[in-house]
Amino acid sequence: MAKQFPEGFLWGAATSAHQVEGGTNNNWIQWEKDNAVRLSEEAKDKWQKWQQNKFPEMFSPENYISGRACDHYTRYEEDFNLAKDGGHNAHRFSIEWSRIEPEEGRFDEKEIEHYRKIILALRERGIEPFVTLWHWTHPLWVEKFGGPANKKFAEYFAQYAEKMAESFGDLVKFWVTVNEPTSVIGAAYMVGIWPPQKRNIISVFNVYKNLSQAHNLAYDKIHEVHPNVQIGFANVLNFIEPNNEKSLLDKFVVGVAEYFSNKKFLNSTKGKNDFLTLQYYFHKKIEFPMIEKNENKKVSDLGWELYPQGLYYLLKKIGKYNLPIYITENGLADSLDENREWFLRESLRNIKKAIDEGVNIKGYFYWSLLDNFEWDKGFWPRFGLIEIDYKTLERKPRQSFYAYKEIIENNGIKRKPC
Ligand code: GCO
Repeated sequence: MAKQFPEGFLWGAATSAHQVEGGTNNNWIQWEKDNAVRLSEEAKDKWQKWQQNKFPEMFSPENYISGRACDHYTRYEEDFNLAKDGGHNAHRFSIEWSRIEPEEGRFDEKEIEHYRKIILALRERGIEPFVTLWHWTHPLWVEKFGGPANKKFAEYFAQYAEKMAESFGDLVKFWVTVNEPTSVIGAAYMVGIWPPQKRNIISVFNVYKNLSQAHNLAYDKIHEVHPNVQIGFANVLNFIEPNNEKSLLDKFVVGVAEYFSNKKFLNSTKGKNDFLTLQYYFHKKIEFPMIEKNENKKVSDLGWELYPQGLYYLLKKIGKYNLPIYITENGLADSLDENREWFLRESLRNIKKAIDEGVNIKGYFYWSLLDNFEWDKGFWPRFGLIEIDYKTLERKPRQSFYAYKEIIENNGIKRKPC
């Protein structure tokens, strides 16, 4: 007996250009070079002993340089063959703006052609492309004027989005404008650990405003060109709970954290989303003033708590907006593939529960198809359904790749016989 998902459900995995393509030249590249040694030295204070022993590569500066990454830029056909073998009928990836518009106003037709080939390669394999336009990386000329901290960002981004809609609008039905705005706001401008490492409260609010404006303008531009496509942004939502249900103070911090991480951006893009997305990684049990009290019974290689139940609660919450929902990222770093199958099954069970209670969920993208470059942490966290040998670039599907394939083939999770 199978627990069937809705007909036409999209099953796939996600990647982003900078993390897999290799050979990019954008706002992260120089930062990686400038910070690789520092990051490798800080690893001994940042990670626990078991992580240091399991991933000694974290002590090497090369770990922090994206370089050729997975060379997906040239090997995309091989990768899409694997996705097809895995039964995927959708794939989320991002276009690298810095390739498309390396100088202000100059669009590179050769690179446009490259992404056209990528989209066609997916279509030929019966895989629906979900295209992200800004997955945190942009051209150097954009970075020079301050990136999303400058209000010019929105207009330039919308022009680029319009160009992409004109170039591929006939082939792409689903557009994702910006990826996880709140992650960038938090890590780059609030905590100051990601480029441009500008900790500044005024920038925090400016970036909220400019990225939501970027989404809103791009939404209009793309729709002017292609009224029938679907547009949204990739939203990371945290499942936040008070440590003590009865404590008003705990509940208060949860309310504030929920507002800034889960609601503010949604509110400022109201009316400009054809679908909602959910990217889920974090469960946070919070005690006043901001102390994390997670049980951490099971954690990923990054030490992040594995808490698939959070998906159900978040989906119920965003279900209230009455828009179709796609889970555009959900995954874990698990180099030995010990928890991935369990995690997939439990996550999908929780998603199914929300569907059974009426939430309109239309697709699921596991993060990630391939092991890839995990930003300031570099290559050691292994998120892939497919393992990459970074020396030879050989691809090897993990056991969980096949478990996911079986789920997709059944369009749901088979009940284990009693
Ligand atoms: C994200 C990012 C990915 C990360 C993943 C794991 O949107 O957070 O899209 O780039 O690699 O989330 O941390």
